[in-house]
Amino acid sequence: MWAHLPKPFFILAPMEAVTDVVFRHVIKQASPPDVFFTEFTNATGWVHAGEKAIGSRLIRTEDEDPIVAQIWGGEPGDMEQLAAHCKELGFHGIDINMGCPAKSAIKSGGSALIRKPELAAAAIAAAKTAGLPVSVKTRLGYTHIDEWKDWLSHLLRQEIVNLTIHLRTKKEMSKVPAHHELIPDILALRDEIAPGTLITINGDIENRAEGLALTKKHPGIDGIMIGRGIFHNPFAFSPTEFSETASSRAFVEHASAKTRSADVSENSSASGSPDAAPAVTDSESLLHGGKSVVQPESPDEIGETQRVTPSAKDGSGAMTVSSTEKANKMKLINLLHLHLDLFDQWDTPEHPRKFDPLKRFFKIYVNSFEGAAELRDKLMHTKNTAEVRAVLKDWSL
Ligand SMILES: Cc1cc2nc3c(=O)[nH]c(=O)nc-3n(C[C@H](O)[C@H](O)[C@H](O)COP(=O)(O)O)c2cc1C
Repeated sequence: MWAHLPKPFFILAPMEAVTDVVFRHVIKQASPPDVFFTEFTNATGWVHAGEKAIGSRLIRTEDEDPIVAQIWGGEPGDMEQLAAHCKELGFHGIDINMGCPAKSAIKSGGSALIRKPELAAAAIAAAKTAGLPVSVKTRLGYTHIDEWKDWLSHLLRQEIVNLTIHLRTKKEMSKVPAHHELIPDILALRDEIAPGTLITINGDIENRAEGLALTKKHPGIDGIMIGRGIFHNPFAFSPTEFSETASSRAFVEHASAKTRSADVSENSSASGSPDAAPAVTDSESLLHGGKSVVQPESPDEIGETQRVTPSAKDGSGAMTVSSTEKANKMKLINLLHLHLDLFDQWDTPEHPRKFDPLKRFFKIYVNSFEGAAELRDKLMHTKNTAEVRAVLKDWSL
């Protein structure tokens, strides 16, 4: 699959408790990336506790094409077994997470592999036995930025098909801006050691436009991976739609500026681990990066294009929104409806879904328009998808 991607290609980042089969289909409808990644699945958890340990993490549908299963762990034998299972499930590739900084992950895998290069090589070799293309997603190093050269050289010697680099160290979490300045040196290293390995850049890239600007500056980049940008604009992968409108440009620029300094941890809890909590608990802040949440309800905050203007027709001074804004608002609300429908569809006796975590997503859709805060407040008091639909119906009357 990797050989048939456009250049540059765009990947939806793997995000724990976010990029499951439901949300991936919402993004597919809004503006599909070239490649989907699943949230990560722990190999040892799956080998010892089976499907129970991983829940619905590895559910995929035929129309998600191509899709890569992200796995993690520290036992090559377990990685081998899970990789074979992913092949049976029809995934098109295996990605190994070697960057997760969460405490529960680094006990056995995630970014701990940066300090165990031999184990990292063994994990890659084990995953390859399934016969699917194997890629790695990692960070620059564990503690110091200057670890990047030795660590990435080591990975590039393992004959992997793609290397995604989140341009920060494990220690930096997401607390500093991603080190885009290292891109030319990383590309030169790839050209020297493994010209056949694709390089995907990740970290602080909000949308397709920003990704294209980066690849224009550094033509050696093969792919761009976008994570949190999708929270600020679910149409982030779109070449034309929505992200091109003036109001959402202001919205996206505003969001970008804020997230540059966002304090978003990659995973506060690695729930794929055998001993971790079953779900990310503080996912509201995970999703929105704490202070990075864009709350552009105040017209002053987001600029002219999103201001409401007095109605010209009735002359009463009543506030109306522009037709573009209305259209954008309806696109977002329709995506929320789609999310609700997919949530119900995938809420099965085999894999029951909890309603409360769904609320974390409301801010993605109910944002950046007049009255959004009020509507969101109502939605946050709902107890099931039927109540959400009822609130939306009342609101749209
Ligand atoms: C809520 C959340 C969950 C994440 N889960 C994973 C994961 O399961 N696997 C992984 O490799 N990275 C995970 N990450 C890291 C992202 O894939 C990405 O590397 C990081 O957010 C930086 O990219 P961005 O600036 O585009 O968001 C997660 C990030 C967030 C915010």
